[in-house]
Amino acid sequence: MKVLIVGGGGREHALAWAVARSEKVSKIYVAPGNGGTAMMGGKIENIALKATDVDGLLQFAHDVSVDLTVVGPEQPLEAGIVDRFSDSGKKIFGPTREAAQLETSKVFAKDFMRRNAIPTASFEVFRDHGSAKDFLESTTAFPQVIKASGLAAGKGVIVAENVEEALLAIDDLFEKRIFGNAADEVVIESFLTGEEASIFVVTDGSDYRFFLPSQDHKRIGEGDTGKNTGGMGAYAPAPLVDEAVLEKVEQRIVIPTLEGMRREGIPYTGFLYIGLMIENGEPSVVEYNARLGDPEAQVVLPLLDSDLVGIIEASLNGTLGEAAFWMKEGSATTVVLASEGYPGSYETGREITIGPVLEDMDDVLLFHAGTSFDGRKLTTSGGRVLSVTAEGSSLRESIDLAYNAVGYVSFDGLYYRRDIGAKALS
Ligand code: AMP
Ligand code: GLY
Repeated sequence: MKVLIVGGGGREHALAWAVARSEKVSKIYVAPGNGGTAMMGGKIENIALKATDVDGLLQFAHDVSVDLTVVGPEQPLEAGIVDRFSDSGKKIFGPTREAAQLETSKVFAKDFMRRNAIPTASFEVFRDHGSAKDFLESTTAFPQVIKASGLAAGKGVIVAENVEEALLAIDDLFEKRIFGNAADEVVIESFLTGEEASIFVVTDGSDYRFFLPSQDHKRIGEGDTGKNTGGMGAYAPAPLVDEAVLEKVEQRIVIPTLEGMRREGIPYTGFLYIGLMIENGEPSVVEYNARLGDPEAQVVLPLLDSDLVGIIEASLNGTLGEAAFWMKEGSATTVVLASEGYPGSYETGREITIGPVLEDMDDVLLFHAGTSFDGRKLTTSGGRVLSVTAEGSSLRESIDLAYNAVGYVSFDGLYYRRDIGAKALS
């Protein structure tokens, strides 16, 4: 079968890698892909179409008779790619535009959790500057977390330590409109303490399966300092999510979420990412995402010991319960190699060299994100450039192997965190 993967980041390289292992698959197109998917060769080919070019992608899928499309990022979901493909008889895996509101509208997600008694931070919704200001001036409970409701590339969340910071934040959102329409509605919620973890489920709308729990490292600096990024590294399984926590996540979050969506007439299918805050073994939802996480996918997919395509097909056929779904023993760690300056401005076009020994390291996978390959030279083209994943029999071993492998990659201005996974060891 022919598979189209939509997106071009590290997650999509990992998806392409996982899909390529399936015996059922004869051809993989990645739109737009990156330098890594360009260099895979064999049955993998990049297609010069943007992930949000739904018309172009649909036309392409018809032209070359794609059998299955898998969507990586959230923007095409919001653009209705799943609805459009389904309406035109093309098999696609992901939530409809309406179901993807669990990610694309924080107001929808928070109201949904309130209606369904799913644990999350208490919140209020504001649609104008005046009422938000009144609320912030009348509360003494700081920090408050201020969020643009719509998609803002992971940057629409401000943790305000005091009323002054909070007022600046709502000025940015409502007056300066730094996130445009994404901040027509603003959620202000209480600050949750604890530790974060990422849980991914695959679901056909009723049945569901859990991937291994993982943990991202969102801040740019070591010791979780500095600005928020898309994610600087991850590991799985996260020991923080033990059996008892997972049982609570299932009973209090996953089951009520899928049931609630069905009851409301918008069944959720695809990958569902539940961003958790866990304190004293009690999980609550920080956010939903309508997709796999990046860079978490770069550790969760390598630890899957079954055919991802078989799992996706079973979800689409409503037979998920019958699909093989096995996880490997051991752990995986991924370290993101970024361009100096990220998440602010950074240079691109820098040549990347990769030591040939990396190819021979059995337990190491090099997933590309912001790279381009012109057939000869590999260069940087984004903030997050590469994601170096290693598997090991223990978390410590996977961390050591990943950092050892990082030493064989170089480009000008290469930056990475040296403490990925360290917290879980202590
Ligand atoms: P979100 O886009 O909602 O996932 O928020 C981005 C990040 O902001 C999260 O991963 C958390 O690190 C942080 N965050 C969001 N909401 C809260 C909250 N209510 N309490 C504490 N931290 C939060
Ligand atoms: N790693 C965070 C995200 O994918 O949203």
